[in-house]
Amino acid sequence: MLKSLFVCGVLGVLLIPAQCQLISVCVEEDNDLRVDCEIEPKANKINSYEFSWSFGTKETLINTNVSGSAAEMQFRDKSEVVELEPHGYRMTLSGFTDTLPHNTTYMCKISGNVESVTIEKDHLVPCSAVSMFLKGSWTWVVCLLFIFFRTHC
Ligand SMILES: *[C@@H]1O[C@H](CO)[C@@H](O)[C@H](O)[C@H]1NC(C)=O
Ligand SMILES: *[C@@H]1O[C@H](CO)[C@@H](O)[C@H](O)[C@H]1NC(C)=O
Repeated sequence: MLKSLFVCGVLGVLLIPAQCQLISVCVEEDNDLRVDCEIEPKANKINSYEFSWSFGTKETLINTNVSGSAAEMQFRDKSEVVELEPHGYRMTLSGFTDTLPHNTTYMCKISGNVESVTIEKDHLVPCSAVSMFLKGSWTWVVCLLFIFFRTHC
């Protein structure tokens, strides 16, 4: 109990902010970077997506299907986008996780709405931690309480 409380506290601090946001970033087992973007598309707009990141002031487009704009060459065959249920898109990027600079701002845009999150390299969480966190039932109960007392989103 104490142990799960501790685990919850640690993961909670790392994950709860991520869960409140419409964009979340984690690292997969094979070291691919995963960016989930859950912005709800507007019914009357074209449902296009755009994933990018920035270091400092330089913004780089990783993947998009907005007609007329193109991702940078180096990301073309390294990134992949799939649709998420009930809405949103998941972008995975292979081969760049180890070369990230200290601070990276991840951005996604759907139907003209932009979400962004800045994550320090050392604070990137493994995707498995996210799903493990959601699987442990005890942790769940404790964490629900934890979330309850920390609701700020
Ligand atoms: C982008 O992809 C989504 C789903 O894959 C599609 O619904 C949308 O029409 C595409 N947008 C453009 C501009 O091709
Ligand atoms: C990274 O971002 C954090 C928070 O935004 C900031 O406090 C820190 O100084 C930044 N570090 C570098 C190396 O830019």
